[in-house]
Amino acid sequence: MDASQPPSGFKKGLTQYGDSGFSLFLRKAFIKGAGYTDDALDRPVIGIASTGSAYNPCHGNMPQLLEAVQRGIQLAGGLPMPFPTISLHESFASPTSMFLRNLMSMDTEEMLRAQPMDAVVLIGGCDKTVPAQMMGAASAGLPAIQLITGSMLTGSHRNQRVGACTDCRRYWAMYRSEAIDEDEIHEVNDQLVASVGTCSVMGTASTMACLAEAMGLTVPGGASPPAVTADRMRVAEETGKQAVWLARERLGITRILDERALENGMRVLLAIGGSTNAIVHLTAMAGRLGIEIDLDAFDKMGRETPVLVDLKPTGQGYMEDLEKAGGLVTVLREIRKQLNLDALTVTGDGSLAAADLAAAGVGTRTSGGAAGGPSVFRTEEPIQLAHELADVSEMAVDRSEPHVRHLVELLQFAHDEFADVLGRHLTLWPLLQCRLDAVSDLLQCRHTDRALLARL
Ligand code: FES
Repeated sequence: MDASQPPSGFKKGLTQYGDSGFSLFLRKAFIKGAGYTDDALDRPVIGIASTGSAYNPCHGNMPQLLEAVQRGIQLAGGLPMPFPTISLHESFASPTSMFLRNLMSMDTEEMLRAQPMDAVVLIGGCDKTVPAQMMGAASAGLPAIQLITGSMLTGSHRNQRVGACTDCRRYWAMYRSEAIDEDEIHEVNDQLVASVGTCSVMGTASTMACLAEAMGLTVPGGASPPAVTADRMRVAEETGKQAVWLARERLGITRILDERALENGMRVLLAIGGSTNAIVHLTAMAGRLGIEIDLDAFDKMGRETPVLVDLKPTGQGYMEDLEKAGGLVTVLREIRKQLNLDALTVTGDGSLAAADLAAAGVGTRTSGGAAGGPSVFRTEEPIQLAHELADVSEMAVDRSEPHVRHLVELLQFAHDEFADVLGRHLTLWPLLQCRLDAVSDLLQCRHTDRALLARL
Protein backbone atom coordinates (compact mmCIF):
# COMPACT_ATOMS: atom_id res chain seq x y z
CA MET A 1 0.00 0.00 0.00
CA ASP A 2 1.09 3.56 -0.77
CA ALA A 3 2.19 5.05 2.58
CA SER A 4 1.28 8.53 1.36
CA GLN A 5 -2.39 7.46 1.07
CA PRO A 6 -4.71 7.41 4.09
CA PRO A 7 -5.66 3.94 5.40
CA SER A 8 -8.28 2.00 3.46
CA GLY A 9 -10.59 -0.96 3.99
CA PHE A 10 -10.76 -2.37 7.49
CA LYS A 11 -7.73 -0.30 8.52
CA LYS A 12 -9.89 2.84 8.27
CA GLY A 13 -11.50 4.53 11.24
CA LEU A 14 -10.23 2.26 13.98
CA THR A 15 -12.10 1.99 17.24
CA GLN A 16 -10.31 3.97 19.97
CA TYR A 17 -8.67 1.60 22.44
CA GLY A 18 -5.50 3.70 22.87
CA ASP A 19 -3.49 1.21 20.75
CA SER A 20 -4.20 1.22 17.00
CA GLY A 21 -2.40 -2.10 16.44
CA PHE A 22 -4.67 -3.75 18.98
CA SER A 23 -7.74 -2.09 17.47
CA LEU A 24 -7.02 -3.62 14.06
CA PHE A 25 -6.11 -6.97 15.61
CA LEU A 26 -9.41 -7.09 17.49
CA ARG A 27 -11.46 -5.94 14.51
CA LYS A 28 -10.00 -8.67 12.32
CA ALA A 29 -10.60 -11.27 15.02
CA PHE A 30 -14.28 -10.37 15.13
CA ILE A 31 -14.81 -10.25 11.36
CA LYS A 32 -13.00 -13.56 10.98
CA GLY A 33 -15.57 -14.95 13.37
CA ALA A 34 -18.00 -14.46 10.48
CA GLY A 35 -15.83 -16.71 8.29
CA TYR A 36 -13.89 -14.15 6.23
CA THR A 37 -10.37 -14.92 4.94
CA ASP A 38 -7.43 -12.47 4.87
CA ASP A 39 -7.80 -12.39 1.08
CA ALA A 40 -11.38 -11.13 1.37
CA LEU A 41 -10.45 -8.62 4.06
CA ASP A 42 -7.73 -7.11 1.87
CA ARG A 43 -10.20 -6.14 -0.87
CA PRO A 44 -11.74 -2.68 -1.25
CA VAL A 45 -14.57 -2.62 1.29
CA ILE A 46 -17.88 -1.47 -0.17
CA GLY A 47 -20.63 -0.65 2.31
CA ILE A 48 -24.21 -1.11 1.15
CA ALA A 49 -26.80 1.03 2.94
CA SER A 50 -29.78 -1.30 2.96
CA THR A 51 -33.20 0.19 3.61
CA GLY A 52 -35.30 -2.94 3.37
CA SER A 53 -38.19 -2.97 5.83
CA ALA A 54 -41.52 -4.74 6.08
CA TYR A 55 -42.93 -1.24 6.63
CA ASN A 56 -41.63 -0.10 3.25
CA PRO A 57 -43.15 -1.89 0.23
CA CYS A 58 -41.50 0.72 -2.01
CA HIS A 59 -38.27 -1.09 -1.10
CA GLY A 60 -39.80 -4.57 -1.29
CA ASN A 61 -37.22 -5.75 -3.83
CA MET A 62 -34.34 -5.10 -1.41
CA PRO A 63 -33.28 -8.78 -1.07
CA GLN A 64 -32.90 -9.12 -4.86
CA LEU A 65 -31.15 -5.76 -5.16
CA LEU A 66 -28.72 -6.64 -2.39
CA GLU A 67 -27.88 -9.91 -4.11
CA ALA A 68 -27.25 -8.16 -7.46
CA VAL A 69 -25.17 -5.34 -5.93
CA GLN A 70 -23.04 -7.81 -4.02
CA ARG A 71 -22.53 -9.83 -7.21
CA GLY A 72 -21.33 -6.69 -8.99
CA ILE A 73 -18.96 -5.78 -6.17
CA GLN A 74 -17.45 -9.26 -6.10
CA LEU A 75 -17.12 -9.38 -9.90
CA ALA A 76 -15.04 -6.20 -9.65
CA GLY A 77 -12.88 -7.57 -6.84
CA GLY A 78 -14.44 -5.78 -3.87
CA LEU A 79 -15.84 -6.98 -0.56
CA PRO A 80 -19.55 -6.14 -0.05
CA MET A 81 -20.65 -5.19 3.47
CA PRO A 82 -24.42 -4.56 3.69
CA PHE A 83 -25.69 -2.73 6.77
CA PRO A 84 -29.13 -1.42 7.77
CA THR A 85 -30.28 2.15 8.21
CA ILE A 86 -33.63 3.76 8.90
CA SER A 87 -36.18 3.27 6.12
CA LEU A 88 -39.09 5.66 5.53
CA HIS A 89 -42.33 5.02 3.66
CA GLU A 90 -44.78 7.80 2.97
CA SER A 91 -47.82 5.96 4.29
CA PHE A 92 -46.25 4.34 7.33
CA ALA A 93 -44.53 7.31 8.97
CA SER A 94 -46.50 9.35 11.48
CA PRO A 95 -47.04 12.26 11.66
CA THR A 96 -45.27 12.58 8.31
CA SER A 97 -42.16 11.14 6.67
CA MET A 98 -40.70 14.64 6.28
CA PHE A 99 -40.47 14.82 10.06
CA LEU A 100 -37.97 11.95 9.89
CA ARG A 101 -35.96 12.74 6.73
CA ASN A 102 -33.19 14.51 8.61
CA LEU A 103 -33.01 11.71 11.18
CA MET A 104 -32.50 9.24 8.32
CA SER A 105 -29.81 11.47 6.81
CA MET A 106 -28.03 11.67 10.17
CA ASP A 107 -28.28 7.89 10.60
CA THR A 108 -26.80 7.39 7.12
CA GLU A 109 -24.06 9.97 7.63
CA GLU A 110 -22.96 8.66 11.01
CA MET A 111 -22.87 5.03 9.86
CA LEU A 112 -20.80 6.03 6.82
CA ARG A 113 -18.39 7.88 9.10
CA ALA A 114 -18.26 5.27 11.87
CA GLN A 115 -17.87 2.06 9.87
CA PRO A 116 -14.85 1.22 7.73
CA MET A 117 -15.65 1.37 4.02
CA ASP A 118 -13.91 2.68 0.90
CA ALA A 119 -17.14 3.45 -0.94
CA VAL A 120 -20.84 3.02 -0.34
CA VAL A 121 -23.85 1.96 -2.38
CA LEU A 122 -26.94 3.81 -1.15
CA ILE A 123 -30.15 1.90 -1.90
CA GLY A 124 -33.22 4.08 -1.65
CA GLY A 125 -36.41 4.86 -3.51
CA CYS A 126 -39.39 6.12 -1.51
CA ASP A 127 -39.76 9.91 -1.42
CA LYS A 128 -37.58 10.95 1.52
CA THR A 129 -35.06 8.11 1.40
CA VAL A 130 -33.00 9.19 -1.62
CA PRO A 131 -32.65 12.82 -0.43
CA ALA A 132 -31.80 11.60 3.08
CA GLN A 133 -29.14 9.25 1.74
CA MET A 134 -27.60 11.84 -0.57
CA MET A 135 -27.57 14.42 2.24
CA GLY A 136 -25.85 11.97 4.59
CA ALA A 137 -23.33 10.89 1.98
CA ALA A 138 -22.60 14.52 1.03
CA SER A 139 -21.73 15.27 4.64
CA ALA A 140 -19.66 12.10 5.08
CA GLY A 141 -17.83 12.86 1.81
CA LEU A 142 -16.65 9.36 0.85
CA PRO A 143 -17.15 7.80 -2.62
CA ALA A 144 -20.86 7.05 -2.95
CA ILE A 145 -23.23 5.79 -5.64
CA GLN A 146 -27.03 5.80 -5.55
CA LEU A 147 -29.11 2.77 -6.47
CA ILE A 148 -32.82 3.43 -6.93
CA THR A 149 -35.24 0.65 -5.95
CA GLY A 150 -37.36 1.39 -9.04
CA SER A 151 -41.01 2.12 -9.67
CA MET A 152 -43.96 -0.22 -9.16
CA LEU A 153 -45.88 -1.68 -12.10
CA THR A 154 -49.27 -0.23 -13.02
CA GLY A 155 -52.49 -2.12 -12.34
CA SER A 156 -55.79 -2.33 -14.13
CA HIS A 157 -59.25 -1.46 -12.87
CA ARG A 158 -62.28 -1.96 -15.12
CA ASN A 159 -60.20 -1.37 -18.24
CA GLN A 160 -58.51 1.67 -16.73
CA ARG A 161 -54.78 1.62 -16.15
CA VAL A 162 -54.10 2.75 -12.59
CA GLY A 163 -51.10 3.42 -10.37
CA ALA A 164 -50.24 5.11 -7.11
CA CYS A 165 -50.51 7.77 -6.15
CA THR A 166 -52.36 10.13 -8.51
CA ASP A 167 -55.10 7.59 -9.12
CA CYS A 168 -55.40 6.89 -5.38
CA ARG A 169 -56.53 10.45 -4.76
CA ARG A 170 -58.74 10.49 -7.82
CA TYR A 171 -60.60 7.32 -6.85
CA TRP A 172 -60.87 8.37 -3.22
CA ALA A 173 -62.37 11.70 -4.31
CA MET A 174 -64.86 9.79 -6.47
CA TYR A 175 -65.76 7.63 -3.49
CA ARG A 176 -66.16 10.65 -1.22
CA SER A 177 -68.42 12.29 -3.76
CA GLU A 178 -70.40 9.03 -4.06
CA ALA A 179 -69.51 8.67 -7.72
CA ILE A 180 -68.36 5.11 -6.95
CA ASP A 181 -69.59 2.76 -4.24
CA GLU A 182 -68.04 0.82 -1.38
CA ASP A 183 -67.48 -2.31 -3.50
CA GLU A 184 -65.63 -0.44 -6.20
CA ILE A 185 -63.36 1.46 -3.85
CA HIS A 186 -62.33 -1.89 -2.30
CA GLU A 187 -61.81 -3.33 -5.75
CA VAL A 188 -59.56 -0.52 -6.94
CA ASN A 189 -57.59 -0.67 -3.69
CA ASP A 190 -56.23 -4.03 -4.87
CA GLN A 191 -55.00 -2.56 -8.16
CA LEU A 192 -53.48 0.82 -7.32
CA VAL A 193 -50.18 -0.70 -6.21
CA ALA A 194 -49.64 -3.64 -8.53
CA SER A 195 -46.18 -4.63 -7.30
CA VAL A 196 -43.42 -3.58 -4.94
CA GLY A 197 -41.58 -0.42 -5.93
CA THR A 198 -42.03 3.33 -5.71
CA CYS A 199 -45.09 5.24 -6.92
CA SER A 200 -45.52 4.83 -10.64
CA VAL A 201 -46.07 8.52 -11.44
CA MET A 202 -43.65 11.46 -11.60
CA GLY A 203 -44.11 12.11 -7.89
CA THR A 204 -41.26 12.87 -5.52
CA ALA A 205 -39.74 9.37 -5.64
CA SER A 206 -39.51 9.25 -9.45
CA THR A 207 -38.37 12.86 -9.52
CA MET A 208 -35.53 12.23 -7.07
CA ALA A 209 -34.57 9.12 -9.04
CA CYS A 210 -34.29 11.21 -12.22
CA LEU A 211 -32.38 13.93 -10.37
CA ALA A 212 -29.94 11.40 -8.93
CA GLU A 213 -29.18 10.23 -12.47
CA ALA A 214 -29.03 13.79 -13.83
CA MET A 215 -26.59 14.78 -11.09
CA GLY A 216 -24.33 11.88 -12.02
CA LEU A 217 -24.92 9.84 -8.87
CA THR A 218 -26.34 6.69 -10.52
CA VAL A 219 -25.04 4.58 -13.36
CA PRO A 220 -26.44 5.77 -16.73
CA GLY A 221 -30.05 4.59 -17.08
CA GLY A 222 -30.35 4.12 -13.31
CA ALA A 223 -33.52 6.14 -12.78
CA SER A 224 -36.33 4.43 -14.60
CA PRO A 225 -36.28 0.60 -14.77
CA PRO A 226 -39.23 -0.67 -12.69
CA ALA A 227 -38.46 -2.46 -9.42
CA VAL A 228 -39.33 -5.99 -10.50
CA THR A 229 -37.56 -6.07 -13.88
CA ALA A 230 -34.37 -7.75 -15.00
CA ASP A 231 -33.12 -4.32 -16.11
CA ARG A 232 -33.36 -3.07 -12.52
CA MET A 233 -31.25 -6.01 -11.35
CA ARG A 234 -28.68 -5.37 -14.08
CA VAL A 235 -28.51 -1.72 -12.94
CA ALA A 236 -27.90 -3.04 -9.41
CA GLU A 237 -25.07 -5.31 -10.55
CA GLU A 238 -23.52 -2.46 -12.56
CA THR A 239 -23.83 -0.18 -9.53
CA GLY A 240 -21.87 -2.67 -7.42
CA LYS A 241 -19.09 -2.82 -10.01
CA GLN A 242 -18.96 0.96 -10.29
CA ALA A 243 -18.71 1.33 -6.52
CA VAL A 244 -15.45 -0.65 -6.58
CA TRP A 245 -14.12 1.64 -9.32
CA LEU A 246 -15.07 4.70 -7.23
CA ALA A 247 -13.27 3.20 -4.22
CA ARG A 248 -10.11 2.52 -6.23
CA GLU A 249 -10.20 6.04 -7.70
CA ARG A 250 -11.03 7.56 -4.30
CA LEU A 251 -13.59 9.67 -6.14
CA GLY A 252 -15.53 11.27 -3.27
CA ILE A 253 -19.15 12.34 -3.70
CA THR A 254 -18.28 16.02 -3.18
CA ARG A 255 -16.31 15.99 -6.45
CA ILE A 256 -19.47 14.87 -8.25
CA LEU A 257 -22.21 16.65 -6.33
CA ASP A 258 -21.15 20.27 -6.91
CA GLU A 259 -22.76 23.45 -8.27
CA ARG A 260 -22.72 22.11 -11.82
CA ALA A 261 -24.43 18.88 -10.81
CA LEU A 262 -27.04 20.69 -8.72
CA GLU A 263 -27.77 22.98 -11.64
CA ASN A 264 -28.21 19.96 -13.90
CA GLY A 265 -30.58 18.55 -11.29
CA MET A 266 -32.64 21.74 -11.25
CA ARG A 267 -32.75 21.83 -15.05
CA VAL A 268 -33.93 18.24 -15.26
CA LEU A 269 -36.50 18.84 -12.53
CA LEU A 270 -38.08 21.43 -14.82
CA ALA A 271 -37.79 19.33 -17.98
CA ILE A 272 -39.50 16.31 -16.44
CA GLY A 273 -42.24 18.39 -14.76
CA GLY A 274 -41.04 16.93 -11.48
CA SER A 275 -42.28 17.27 -7.93
CA THR A 276 -42.05 20.66 -6.23
CA ASN A 277 -40.76 18.80 -3.16
CA ALA A 278 -37.51 18.26 -5.03
CA ILE A 279 -36.55 21.91 -4.49
CA VAL A 280 -36.87 21.42 -0.75
CA HIS A 281 -34.59 18.37 -0.94
CA LEU A 282 -32.09 19.95 -3.35
CA THR A 283 -31.81 22.93 -1.04
CA ALA A 284 -31.05 20.64 1.90
CA MET A 285 -28.48 18.64 -0.09
CA ALA A 286 -26.78 21.80 -1.30
CA GLY A 287 -26.77 23.07 2.28
CA ARG A 288 -24.72 20.02 3.33
CA LEU A 289 -22.11 21.14 0.78
CA GLY A 290 -22.19 24.80 1.76
CA ILE A 291 -23.87 25.71 -1.53
CA GLU A 292 -26.86 28.01 -1.67
CA ILE A 293 -29.56 27.21 -4.18
CA ASP A 294 -30.46 30.39 -6.04
CA LEU A 295 -34.24 30.30 -6.29
CA ASP A 296 -34.31 33.37 -8.54
CA ALA A 297 -31.99 31.56 -10.96
CA PHE A 298 -34.26 28.53 -10.72
CA ASP A 299 -37.26 30.69 -11.52
CA LYS A 300 -35.44 32.09 -14.56
CA MET A 301 -34.40 28.59 -15.60
CA GLY A 302 -38.05 27.59 -15.44
CA ARG A 303 -38.94 30.20 -18.02
CA GLU A 304 -36.48 28.81 -20.56
CA THR A 305 -36.74 25.05 -19.98
CA PRO A 306 -39.36 23.08 -21.90
CA VAL A 307 -41.44 20.46 -20.10
CA LEU A 308 -40.77 17.29 -22.03
CA VAL A 309 -42.18 14.42 -20.02
CA ASP A 310 -45.87 13.60 -20.07
CA LEU A 311 -46.35 11.55 -16.92
CA LYS A 312 -49.02 11.75 -14.25
CA PRO A 313 -49.88 13.69 -12.14
CA THR A 314 -49.67 16.52 -14.68
CA GLY A 315 -49.73 14.32 -17.76
CA GLN A 316 -50.81 10.88 -18.94
CA GLY A 317 -48.10 8.23 -18.63
CA TYR A 318 -46.36 6.27 -15.89
CA MET A 319 -42.69 5.62 -15.09
CA GLU A 320 -42.69 2.29 -16.91
CA ASP A 321 -43.58 4.25 -20.08
CA LEU A 322 -40.61 6.56 -19.60
CA GLU A 323 -38.40 3.50 -19.25
CA LYS A 324 -39.81 1.95 -22.44
CA ALA A 325 -39.29 5.24 -24.26
CA GLY A 326 -35.58 5.20 -23.48
CA GLY A 327 -35.39 6.50 -19.92
CA LEU A 328 -34.00 9.78 -18.65
CA VAL A 329 -31.13 9.79 -21.11
CA THR A 330 -33.66 10.66 -23.81
CA VAL A 331 -34.56 13.81 -21.87
CA LEU A 332 -30.90 14.65 -21.19
CA ARG A 333 -30.20 14.44 -24.88
CA GLU A 334 -33.01 16.92 -25.68
CA ILE A 335 -31.80 19.54 -23.21
CA ARG A 336 -28.09 18.89 -23.60
CA LYS A 337 -27.41 22.48 -24.60
CA GLN A 338 -28.84 23.62 -21.25
CA LEU A 339 -26.81 21.19 -19.14
CA ASN A 340 -23.32 21.49 -17.68
CA LEU A 341 -21.62 18.88 -19.84
CA ASP A 342 -18.43 18.99 -17.83
CA ALA A 343 -20.04 17.77 -14.61
CA LEU A 344 -18.41 14.60 -13.27
CA THR A 345 -20.45 11.45 -12.77
CA VAL A 346 -19.93 8.16 -10.94
CA THR A 347 -18.62 6.71 -14.19
CA GLY A 348 -16.00 9.45 -14.36
CA ASP A 349 -17.66 10.94 -17.46
CA GLY A 350 -19.71 14.07 -18.01
CA SER A 351 -23.47 13.60 -17.52
CA LEU A 352 -24.09 13.87 -21.20
CA ALA A 353 -21.62 11.19 -22.17
CA ALA A 354 -24.43 8.68 -21.76
CA ALA A 355 -26.76 10.84 -23.81
CA ASP A 356 -24.16 11.08 -26.55
CA LEU A 357 -24.03 7.30 -26.71
CA ALA A 358 -27.78 7.09 -26.90
CA ALA A 359 -27.86 9.65 -29.69
CA ALA A 360 -25.37 7.54 -31.60
CA GLY A 361 -27.50 4.44 -31.10
CA VAL A 362 -24.95 2.77 -28.86
CA GLY A 363 -26.24 0.72 -25.96
CA THR A 364 -29.42 -1.21 -25.54
CA ARG A 365 -32.31 0.20 -23.58
CA THR A 366 -31.25 3.79 -23.89
CA SER A 367 -31.36 3.89 -27.66
CA GLY A 368 -34.91 2.66 -28.11
CA GLY A 369 -38.35 4.22 -28.21
CA ALA A 370 -41.67 2.92 -26.96
CA ALA A 371 -42.77 0.11 -29.24
CA GLY A 372 -46.47 0.68 -29.70
CA GLY A 373 -46.74 2.15 -26.19
CA PRO A 374 -48.11 5.55 -25.28
CA SER A 375 -45.83 8.50 -25.94
CA VAL A 376 -44.45 9.97 -22.75
CA PHE A 377 -42.94 13.02 -24.33
CA ARG A 378 -44.48 16.39 -24.91
CA THR A 379 -43.27 19.84 -25.80
CA GLU A 380 -44.69 22.49 -23.53
CA GLU A 381 -43.21 25.84 -22.81
CA PRO A 382 -45.00 26.74 -19.53
CA ILE A 383 -43.69 25.48 -16.22
CA GLN A 384 -45.82 22.63 -14.90
CA LEU A 385 -44.64 21.93 -11.40
CA ALA A 386 -48.05 21.99 -9.78
CA HIS A 387 -48.65 18.29 -9.49
CA GLU A 388 -50.88 18.03 -6.52
CA LEU A 389 -52.73 21.17 -7.41
CA ALA A 390 -53.13 20.30 -11.04
CA ASP A 391 -55.13 17.38 -9.72
CA VAL A 392 -57.05 19.63 -7.41
CA SER A 393 -57.92 21.91 -10.27
CA GLU A 394 -59.25 18.95 -12.23
CA MET A 395 -61.21 17.73 -9.27
CA ALA A 396 -62.94 21.10 -8.80
CA VAL A 397 -65.30 20.20 -11.64
CA ASP A 398 -67.25 17.95 -9.29
CA ARG A 399 -69.14 20.21 -6.90
CA SER A 400 -70.92 17.79 -4.60
CA GLU A 401 -70.54 18.65 -0.91
CA PRO A 402 -68.31 15.73 0.21
CA HIS A 403 -66.07 16.26 -2.79
CA VAL A 404 -65.74 19.97 -2.09
CA ARG A 405 -64.91 19.31 1.55
CA HIS A 406 -62.18 16.87 0.53
CA LEU A 407 -60.88 19.34 -2.03
CA VAL A 408 -60.65 22.13 0.54
CA GLU A 409 -58.70 19.82 2.84
CA LEU A 410 -56.29 19.06 0.04
CA LEU A 411 -55.81 22.74 -0.71
CA GLN A 412 -55.18 23.43 2.96
CA PHE A 413 -52.59 20.64 3.02
CA ALA A 414 -50.92 21.95 -0.11
CA HIS A 415 -50.89 25.49 1.25
CA ASP A 416 -49.26 24.38 4.51
CA GLU A 417 -46.82 22.21 2.62
CA PHE A 418 -45.54 24.78 0.19
CA ALA A 419 -46.15 28.28 1.47
CA ASP A 420 -43.59 28.40 4.26
CA VAL A 421 -40.90 26.60 2.41
CA LEU A 422 -41.05 28.31 -0.91
CA GLY A 423 -42.26 31.72 0.26
CA ARG A 424 -42.49 34.10 -2.63
CA HIS A 425 -40.97 31.42 -4.80
CA LEU A 426 -44.31 29.73 -4.76
CA THR A 427 -43.66 31.37 -8.05
CA LEU A 428 -44.03 28.52 -9.80
CA TRP A 429 -46.90 30.56 -11.09
CA PRO A 430 -48.88 27.67 -12.53
CA LEU A 431 -49.03 26.21 -9.06
CA LEU A 432 -50.50 29.37 -7.63
CA GLN A 433 -52.78 29.72 -10.62
CA CYS A 434 -54.12 26.20 -10.23
CA ARG A 435 -54.89 26.92 -6.64
CA LEU A 436 -56.66 30.16 -7.42
CA ASP A 437 -58.65 28.55 -10.22
CA ALA A 438 -59.72 25.80 -7.91
CA VAL A 439 -60.75 28.24 -5.18
CA SER A 440 -62.68 30.41 -7.57
CA ASP A 441 -64.49 27.33 -8.79
CA LEU A 442 -65.32 26.53 -5.22
CA LEU A 443 -66.64 29.99 -4.53
CA GLN A 444 -69.31 29.48 -7.17
CA CYS A 445 -70.32 26.19 -5.66
CA ARG A 446 -73.67 25.97 -3.91
CA HIS A 447 -72.44 23.52 -1.32
CA THR A 448 -69.21 25.27 -0.45
CA ASP A 449 -68.44 25.27 3.24
CA ARG A 450 -67.29 28.85 3.67
CA ALA A 451 -65.87 28.21 7.11
CA LEU A 452 -63.53 25.69 5.57
CA LEU A 453 -62.68 28.03 2.73
CA ALA A 454 -61.83 30.76 5.21
CA ARG A 455 -58.95 28.61 6.42
CA LEU A 456 -57.21 28.89 3.10
FE1 FES B 1 -43.09 5.30 -1.59
FE2 FES B 1 -44.86 6.80 -3.13
S1 FES B 1 -45.15 5.90 -1.15
S2 FES B 1 -42.80 6.29 -3.47
